[in-house]
Amino acid sequence: MPHDFMPGLAGVPAATSSISDVDGQQGVLEYRGIRVEELCAQSSFLETSYLLLFGRLPAASQLEQWTSDISHHRRVKFRIVDLLKCLPEHGHPMDALQAAVAALGMFYPGRQVKDAETNYWSAVRLIAKLPTIVAAWARLRHGDDPIPPQDDLEFSENFLYMLTERRPHPLWKEIFDDCLILHAEHTMNASTFTGLVTASTLADPYTVVASSIGALKGPLHGGANEEVVQMLREIASPDHAQAYVEQQLAARRKLMGFGHRVYKVKDPRATVLQRLCERLFQECGPSPLYTIALEVERTAGESLNGKGIYPNVDFYSGIIYDKMGIDVNLFTPLFAMARVSGWLAHWLEQLQENKLFRPDQIYSGEHNRPYVPLAQR
Ligand code: SDX
Repeated sequence: MPHDFMPGLAGVPAATSSISDVDGQQGVLEYRGIRVEELCAQSSFLETSYLLLFGRLPAASQLEQWTSDISHHRRVKFRIVDLLKCLPEHGHPMDALQAAVAALGMFYPGRQVKDAETNYWSAVRLIAKLPTIVAAWARLRHGDDPIPPQDDLEFSENFLYMLTERRPHPLWKEIFDDCLILHAEHTMNASTFTGLVTASTLADPYTVVASSIGALKGPLHGGANEEVVQMLREIASPDHAQAYVEQQLAARRKLMGFGHRVYKVKDPRATVLQRLCERLFQECGPSPLYTIALEVERTAGESLNGKGIYPNVDFYSGIIYDKMGIDVNLFTPLFAMARVSGWLAHWLEQLQENKLFRPDQIYSGEHNRPYVPLAQR
């Protein structure tokens, strides 16, 4: 294989960026230079989104304005709800989200991406409206009317309220907000790269985010969190974990929620998510899935840790959402609601010095083949 071709572009820089950094050997993730653990302890998802998009923590007045702008743009046009009502109710929520976000751009002037003011309001609308679309679909597919967003509720509290029309337990609001922080950004992952390629054509940000949602859906990327909980439910008991892991690995099938292109130690986000699991279960009672997950991590580690394969962000996240009563196929849309901040941060950064993404290929086909008439084939 020619030396300059790397399958999956592994290790190949696609951009210069100051938004986040991952040390895969030490297990460190920083957003604009701040450790993600520190942001979970001290910040909020909205403040972290501001940090990612604009490169610095907001002053009090800036945070107040940002929070107000997001809170007052949570509603979606009734035609977006009508669009969701036309979709098959058993359709996957990621497909519904992608369709609605692609349509969202039709209602707003986000086309001229060179205008900073327009770009600001496009970013506000996308961060504000993705949770509303996810919650609306969660209700509509069961024949229930969407619950309107509440301007006076904080970001995470409002989302959980839109799912159930009940204000969530204060601990749930805090834990869910930390989950959003942990999922907000992660350097040049597949969905961010997808969005950058779309952004480099100067397409509008709604189209950029719709393309990233498509990439995030795959089970090798954001779709893994849903697969993990389905795997844990299939295992059903910690006593079955070892046999399941051995069977999967013997069949050379990958364990969902394990492994990472960059981390060769345990994903620091998985460690924080475990602590959130333990806080949640201390308050609300145990989760059988968590006990099974711990046994899977222990037994899989015996075979995989030596190859630098450890739990990633998707291994424990779904266990938290499951305990909160959120449907398993909503887990990846939750990932998208958080990661939209990272996608938009990279979009704005790309526009600073845009260059169309158009890589080369190594041609492996033939040349100068004759056209064979149909009668002679
Ligand atoms: C996310 O990029 C990001 O930052 C993503 C993300 C983000 O925040 O945006 O962190 C979020 O997507 C996390 C990953 C979620 N996906 C999964 O949990 C799916 C399971 N994981 C694997 O598919 C895999 O680990 C990847 C896709 C995540 C990374 O795979 P690579 O870097 O392409 O490596 P590979 O598939 O070529 O595997 C290398 C070796 C292989 O063994 P050999 O053939 O060389 O003997 O490691 C093995 C693989 O079989 N391996 C696994 C494994 N992951 C890799 N073996 C068993 N189980 C696994 N999960």
